[in-house]
Amino acid sequence: MDRTPHVLIFPFPAQGHITQMLKLAELLCLSGIQVTFLNTHHNHRRLRRHADIDSRFPASLRFQTIPDGLPPHHPRRQFGFLKEWIYSVDIKSQIEPSFRHLLVSYQSQNNPVTCIISDGVLTFTIDVGMGLGIPTISFRTVSTCCLWTYFWLPQLVRSGDLKFGGEELIDMDERVSSIPGSETFLRRRDLPSFYRSKEIDKTGMEFVDTETQNSTKSHALILNTFEDLESPILSEIRNRFTKIYTIGPLHTLLNTKRAEPISVSSNGLWEVDRTCMKWLDSQTPKSVIYVSFGSVVLMKHSEMMEIWHGLVNSEKPFLWVVRPDSITEELESSDEVAEEVAEETKKRGCIVGWAPQEEVLAHGAVGGFLGHGGWNSTLESVVAGVPLICWPHFADQTVNSRFVEEVWRVGLDMKDRCDRSTVEMMVRDLMDEKGEGLRESTARMGELARESVRDGGSSFCNFKDLMEDLRLMCQ
Ligand code: UDX
Repeated sequence: MDRTPHVLIFPFPAQGHITQMLKLAELLCLSGIQVTFLNTHHNHRRLRRHADIDSRFPASLRFQTIPDGLPPHHPRRQFGFLKEWIYSVDIKSQIEPSFRHLLVSYQSQNNPVTCIISDGVLTFTIDVGMGLGIPTISFRTVSTCCLWTYFWLPQLVRSGDLKFGGEELIDMDERVSSIPGSETFLRRRDLPSFYRSKEIDKTGMEFVDTETQNSTKSHALILNTFEDLESPILSEIRNRFTKIYTIGPLHTLLNTKRAEPISVSSNGLWEVDRTCMKWLDSQTPKSVIYVSFGSVVLMKHSEMMEIWHGLVNSEKPFLWVVRPDSITEELESSDEVAEEVAEETKKRGCIVGWAPQEEVLAHGAVGGFLGHGGWNSTLESVVAGVPLICWPHFADQTVNSRFVEEVWRVGLDMKDRCDRSTVEMMVRDLMDEKGEGLRESTARMGELARESVRDGGSSFCNFKDLMEDLRLMCQ
């Protein structure tokens, strides 16, 4: 007798991961699969507060929660939280038992889990699943170009080709010439954050290395990318996995399946401020630079002021997302500065705490995006045909920003620079005539992205393939 597929989805507990995996959950449900989405208690409370989850999702999407392993009074700021998980939480003793317990209880009911789709950095789930006879598919939320570096870098460190320790050993512009596919353009400064510092971050490196190697034991790998964007690296990485489904851009694929697009830029752990849409309506076409650094980046007040001065000096209207928890230092509150900021912002800008980003990027008034090169933001900008300026901070952002400028030609890399004259120059370069070439190549890439999710496109077909495989798993 055929059973209904029942997939358990388990993301790493950070916004950038939850965003993508919740989209996948909705996609599966809209295709007739029953999904249980596993969140930590803390993140689920935030999601429930801001994302209207009870009325938004199909009835076949259920939520379950487990503890995150941190003490109750831990502040759980987003960036700290990522680090806490890697450095403080012992996944084996603090997370794995609750996960196993949940699965065991499902297996004894009449709708057992038939496949686990877990974050590619939570690979303990593969062994738990194997023990209970449930296949696990890994989902990596980073770009393929970054994932590919994760396969190579630990062995370059071990062989001594990638050196740490002391100023004299680190030339940030030195090429990292032994990673196939990026020999000619990837520099030390473009590597994921664990490999850029002068001191080796052993814990971070080992975590990434172990998770990356372990993920190859999974039944298959899902990537939020599309073939036309990353095909050379995809052909390299395919040798490492039994099967890869490239089904991105996920948000675009999802929009093709929804009966009507959802107005709230969803899945957020913050409340969306829609007043900026009205403000955008009052601006001329392609005139506005949208500024947002995702959900985890923290910046100093001095950096924020450099960006603000650069934006004002560029004389372009700007829409800026300043997350309430994103500034690391107290404001230097001279009344004069505050007044100047308020006056100038009123003249040419709009600042909100959290924007409906997908809608903002699709708005005709937006002509450029100054961001951090986060993977979701990069894909969302490409789909909308909006060229980027990337000021990357950590993880895959440093790799993405190099590919944005050098390989995909959809923007400019502002890595390791944050002064007002650079911001002004780059904004002008992007938004004025000089940016015409970038606008054209981004529009072309955006068209390829949209084609990939249309009937017969690569992501469309790969998603269909994934659906068939999920159904086969429960026969
Ligand atoms: C992080 C990493 O940067 C990313 O590269 C990794 O793959 C996952 O974790 P984050 O820093 O949050 O994620 O950036 P990004 O991947 O760009 O995701 C941000 C998401 O928040 C996007 O989907 C964006 O649309 C949304 N967003 C952001 C809003 O909806 N409103 C905002 O105001 C800002």
